[in-house]
Amino acid sequence: MKQNDLKNINICCIGAGYVGGPTMAVLAKHCPNIQVTVTDHNLERINDWNSIDLSKLPIYEPGLDEIVNKYRGKNLHFSSEVEKNISIADMIFISVNTPTKTKGVGAGKASDIKWVEACARQVANNAKDHTIIVEKSTLPVRTAEVIKNILESATSIKSQKNPSISFDVLSNPEFLSEGSAIKDLENPDRVLIGGENNQAIKALSEIYENWVPVKKILYTNIWSSELAKLTANAFLAQRISSINSIGALCEATGADVREVSRAIGTDSRIGAKFLDAGPGFGGSCFKKDILNLVYLASYFGLHEVANFWESVVKLNYWHQNRISRLIVKKLFGTLSDKKIAVLGFAFKANTNDTRESAAIQICKELLEEGAILSIYDPKVSRKQIKRDLNFINDPYEIKTESNNLNKYFIADNIQETFQDADAILILTEWSEFSNINWESAYKMMRKPAWVFDSRSIVNPQKVLDANLKLWRIGDGSKISNI
Ligand code: UDX
Ligand code: ADP
Repeated sequence: MKQNDLKNINICCIGAGYVGGPTMAVLAKHCPNIQVTVTDHNLERINDWNSIDLSKLPIYEPGLDEIVNKYRGKNLHFSSEVEKNISIADMIFISVNTPTKTKGVGAGKASDIKWVEACARQVANNAKDHTIIVEKSTLPVRTAEVIKNILESATSIKSQKNPSISFDVLSNPEFLSEGSAIKDLENPDRVLIGGENNQAIKALSEIYENWVPVKKILYTNIWSSELAKLTANAFLAQRISSINSIGALCEATGADVREVSRAIGTDSRIGAKFLDAGPGFGGSCFKKDILNLVYLASYFGLHEVANFWESVVKLNYWHQNRISRLIVKKLFGTLSDKKIAVLGFAFKANTNDTRESAAIQICKELLEEGAILSIYDPKVSRKQIKRDLNFINDPYEIKTESNNLNKYFIADNIQETFQDADAILILTEWSEFSNINWESAYKMMRKPAWVFDSRSIVNPQKVLDANLKLWRIGDGSKISNI
């Protein structure tokens, strides 16, 4: 360490994204003596983090703007000078993106850790003293070994000039969930620290102890920590695929998935969370982490294990496709030139993140069927929606035959989407979608007018009273079978 006092250290975070930004903001809030600098090589992103207008922060997360406003310039800084900040840091958090590889060995499954490797090289070239490296990004198991190898090679060269140079690598995966990141960081279920060197573990643990009760801090070996993160996400995603599969069965049999969820969720062994049927899971982690597990299992010849986890991802795709197919069926077998109001594009409410959002595949399939989409999301930018709808590079994506992807427009408010629409399709559970005036919507729409609610957010009776036809996810009752 460059400083003896563990409480007064410099932290550098590499990666000012959905993980790095909120995590460091909360850390700075609770550790006034620590100088925290969040760095990113994307200058535009850093400028947005430094923007005086807080609505321009690159990430929308409830409560984040308040913290940034209060601590930015005091002990929370955003900078594009990555190398300079590495050189003065006692502790470096790596929070860069690790997308699924698109080519080469493991393409479509393994995570691409080229950015992590680049970080390790930057650290190796610029660190000046003893430095603790903390893996924050979700990484394939044994990434710490890659980081260590790079750092060790650098150390052997540098130590001839500077004998005090050395590194420790810790795994400290982030479990925050977007949309509730600040709440999750302020009051985590647990903090997981994986590592070998007790002093380094203690240094990181003491930082968290500023606001997290000691009993919530778990210590494991580094590989268990890395694997625990992948496993946690795989288990959560598995619950969603499970309940979505049961939702389809409910629709076929006359049961109601909300009732089934409630009935099974009261079993304390199962628990009530992550049992909401929806349009399919999205977000940057679930699919990527499961595919990582699949790759790992295949690599070790555990093909049954690999197939088991891959089926969770396959079901998610099937489920999204099921939704677009049933819309076609309800609208008399064709969407040609029919207008659909799409409400919500983010992968869940309270975030502007669209990575792996179910909306992307569902919208593409509806466009392929000839529909004209009018899309509204309160937080996702126009630019992002356009980028997502024109991107085709996903091996799991259900391929489209023609290139009919341009008949969509992006609305500035909900009302604008209703004009002459044949159907309203709710894909994200933004609270404003539960307060729609269905009578006025009905008047603006072409008849018969439909509501497809993939998030169980509408009041079914109000929709039906307004003469609209309704399909709700996993609802096999007569209401939805008009
Ligand atoms: C997830 C993990 O929850 C978090 O611990 C990890 O650090 C990162 O990945 P996140 O992707 O931000 O977090 O969101 P999450 O709330 O887990 O939702 C993921 C997806 O599942 C969303 O598309 C959401 O709409 C969907 N979901 C969630 C359901 O369809 N039903 C549910 O009951 C819960
Ligand atoms: P996550 O959801 O994991 O936080 P994001 O994509 O939101 O992922 O953020 C990761 C950030 O890391 C991006 O802003 C990217 O520019 C940044 N990044 C990636 N590699 C490096 C690097 N070597 N140096 C600095 N920043 C990096």
